[in-house]
Amino acid sequence: MKINFLQWAALACIGTQALASPIADPTATNALHERSSSWDPSAWWNLWWKWFHQQQGNGGKQSCKSPLVRKEWRQLSDAQKKEYISAVQCLASLPAITTAVIGGAITRFDDFQGVHSRQTPNIHWVGHFAVWHRLMMAYYEKALREECGYTGAQPYWDWLIDTESGLNMTQWPIFDPQTGFGGNGPFVEATADQNPLGIEGHLGGGCVQDGPFAQGKFSLALGPTVNYNLSNPHCLTRDFAPSVAETNLVQSVWDEVMAEPDYGAFARRLEALPSWAMKNVHGGGHFGVGGILGTMGDAYNSPGDPLFYLHHTNLDHLFWSWQQEDLSTRLSEVSGPIVPFDYNNTVAGNVTLDFEINLFPLTGNFKLGDLLDTTGTKLCYTYQ
Ligand SMILES: *[C@@H]1O[C@H](CO)[C@@H](O)[C@H](O)[C@H]1NC(C)=O
Ligand SMILES: *[C@@H]1O[C@H](CO)[C@@H](O)[C@H](O)[C@H]1NC(C)=O
Ligand SMILES: *[C@@H]1O[C@H](CO)[C@@H](O)[C@H](O)[C@H]1NC(C)=O
Ligand SMILES: *[C@@H]1O[C@H](CO)[C@@H](O)[C@H](O)[C@H]1NC(C)=O
Repeated sequence: MKINFLQWAALACIGTQALASPIADPTATNALHERSSSWDPSAWWNLWWKWFHQQQGNGGKQSCKSPLVRKEWRQLSDAQKKEYISAVQCLASLPAITTAVIGGAITRFDDFQGVHSRQTPNIHWVGHFAVWHRLMMAYYEKALREECGYTGAQPYWDWLIDTESGLNMTQWPIFDPQTGFGGNGPFVEATADQNPLGIEGHLGGGCVQDGPFAQGKFSLALGPTVNYNLSNPHCLTRDFAPSVAETNLVQSVWDEVMAEPDYGAFARRLEALPSWAMKNVHGGGHFGVGGILGTMGDAYNSPGDPLFYLHHTNLDHLFWSWQQEDLSTRLSEVSGPIVPFDYNNTVAGNVTLDFEINLFPLTGNFKLGDLLDTTGTKLCYTYQ
């Protein structure tokens, strides 16, 4: 069965011991690197030369000279939207490279979903939540560009524009079958067991019927279980819950996150709780689109919905915007628990700038401190 955030949170609270292992994996290798393991001296030379030149040009401090500029979906021309969607479809047509670790993955698109599924118990309600997902967005963007010829930056979805528009959610442009990600699934009755968050007024639950990721055109291999070694081809589902979107994806919640004084408080407020006791933009996007039965509401497998990446890029946009308010502090500050929900540090400590995360097996380890600057040595993008 699909595990939603609340069920997962219950498991996490009971089993914190089992989850205490740090996510940094000393055996992690860089699969992007492994792919070119057949020795190609000219490729290595080019890489080294590029690196060397960047160091020279920037006094050895930075290597990001012309950052990608990430834009809101509506700011893209129809041709650019089409190019992005085609690149996602391309990723979903290339063979997986993670199968030694993520046995169920079939495509390059599945690789990212599988990496998220595998680490789900360690990357939510922790200090590194915002940074881990930042890294994931950056590698997805990199794959779209380097492996599928996409020439733009990863776009984001500013849901505030939609909730403020007063349009019925089914009419939001992001769900347009021609210039967006397709719409809702048909209505499917849900049981109380499937709905621990008590979501009311869900409109869908079945397979997406139109647009580029409709049933028959697009298939997911992973989920809806937590076993990422299992291939189970199935459709993308959506289950719009307008009440969740309209109450959580609002300016006042955005402003509350922006007003947090330090990183730990910021990251905690961004995620809030796995309940509606405190409105939150993270859950608002997941459950507004995913409702009770949709892929976006699946804690492990939500990256199966291509819209996941636009939602999380907007959360990263929020993170970036918050950092811009005080760069001198916020490019070198992290905190918050290593272990999920351990906000009082009774199980383990807080993350630090040296705490390591990865997208194993897609990447090696990164220190959190190296991922705070989006125009630093490891990342190279900004927002418009
Ligand atoms: C998935 O397969 C890998 C490689 O065989 C194994 O290390 C891992 O424990 C498996 N995970 C699960 C959840 O079965
Ligand atoms: C929005 O549109 C859907 C699909 O047409 C419909 O079921 C729903 O009742 C509408 N909601 C409102 C508030 O009008
Ligand atoms: C851990 O992080 C939280 C959130 O930023 C902070 O309130 C707390 O003081 C930190 N704990 C320690 C021991 O530094
Ligand atoms: C942390 O400590 C505070 C103050 O003692 C308490 O109110 C809160 O419930 C604790 N939180 C957790 C997650 O244990």
